[in-house]
Amino acid sequence: GSIRQNNVTNGNSPLKLFTHAKVTITDIFKNIASFVNDSSIYLADVMKSDKELLAMDKYKDSQQLKERVNRILSIISRDHMKVVFFGRTSNGKSTVMNAMLRERILPVGMGHTTNCFLQIEGTDKMEAVVLIPGSEELKSVHNLSSISNALSSEKLDSDSLVKILWPKEKCRLIRDDVVLVDSPGIDVSTNLDEWIEKYCLDADVFILVISAESTITVSEKKFLHNVAQRLSNPNIFILMNRWDATANEPEMVESVRQQHLDRGLEFLCDELNLCDRKEAAENRMFFISAREALLNRNTDPSTSPRSGYNEGYRERLHEFNKFEHEFEKCISKTAVQTKFQQHTNRGREIITFLCETIANIINRSQTNKEEYLTKLKETEDKNVFLEHELRSMTDSAKERIRHVSEDVYKRVAQTLNDE
Ligand code: GTP
Ligand code: MG
Repeated sequence: GSIRQNNVTNGNSPLKLFTHAKVTITDIFKNIASFVNDSSIYLADVMKSDKELLAMDKYKDSQQLKERVNRILSIISRDHMKVVFFGRTSNGKSTVMNAMLRERILPVGMGHTTNCFLQIEGTDKMEAVVLIPGSEELKSVHNLSSISNALSSEKLDSDSLVKILWPKEKCRLIRDDVVLVDSPGIDVSTNLDEWIEKYCLDADVFILVISAESTITVSEKKFLHNVAQRLSNPNIFILMNRWDATANEPEMVESVRQQHLDRGLEFLCDELNLCDRKEAAENRMFFISAREALLNRNTDPSTSPRSGYNEGYRERLHEFNKFEHEFEKCISKTAVQTKFQQHTNRGREIITFLCETIANIINRSQTNKEEYLTKLKETEDKNVFLEHELRSMTDSAKERIRHVSEDVYKRVAQTLNDE
């Protein structure tokens, strides 16, 4: 029977946590935008009728909020999840990425293949495009081999970044806002700090690809130590790749696996102090064959790897799927927390500022109470709407927004009652 698994239309992917949260937070900010709009009209009216009621600096601040909210909306629309792959030359970084992309997009080969940073991100267009640094021209890519041609015809520094805009249509991972970064072998560069500075500070997940035939090297460890110094608690996965090679030595498999596990756990848990051993053993280290995984997923026979499966491949395919699932859970959770928590805080600041300013005015003026209560009612209705939209978001973010709206309502209501 066929062992191909087609996840292209997988609606239950953990990545949906991020994509749903993005939709939700966009809606929230659209609501905030309309609240800001109403308020700024109201405040402009107040300013015209009675300057005593509103301090000039508050008024000026309020008039800038529209711009600020629009800026946040545009940042949200560009927010994505980012994963960086690294490891020694020829360990199979590009092959792992291709397997995850379910197509042979990146050039792979023996020896030193990837010679600069390659970032794969989504485009709504139907055709892939390559963006080479320093050249304005967009190179369209008609087929996969022209990506490697486009790359090899340019003289590129090892720390330059080439972008491949890949049609979202073609790949679930890309469609769900994941951006993947491939790197040159860590052993061919001396400037690891610059790498981190340039490409890694906004990464949500790091994937170290090791060849199971060798072991984790000093330069790989040094890189991760530097990452852990710059970022608090980075998410690191270790892939023991080329595990298909163990098919030739079945009697060795268990002892080799144990050796790799011991070293990897010692590094992640004792040296870097990132998580406990049980968590790391279950969710952070995987024994895979990227070659077999790609063979299993790539539906285009002309670009499929030539050689077939080794004995025991089903287990390795299963392990690859397990890795991918953990990876998707981890990256979407982290990205929601780091990116959207900031936005949520900004949103709260804006609402609180406006509500306080308006409450202040109402406090000072005895007159337009009635009118304001109607306005407040409208805001409350909006919050009911938000509540509904928020269902798919993480509980903590949800709790926070609820807190904001309740807080705002309570404070304003109290101000009115106090009078
Ligand atoms: P650079 O770009 O040079 O840094 O290498 P890389 O880490 O991107 O490695 P790449 O994906 O180009 O793979 C190197 C070679 O190893 C290729 O010939 C792959 O086909 C092969 N390879 C990758 N993964 C596996 C695997 O799981 N098993 C086996 N047997 N070969 C693999
Ligand atoms: Mg490569």
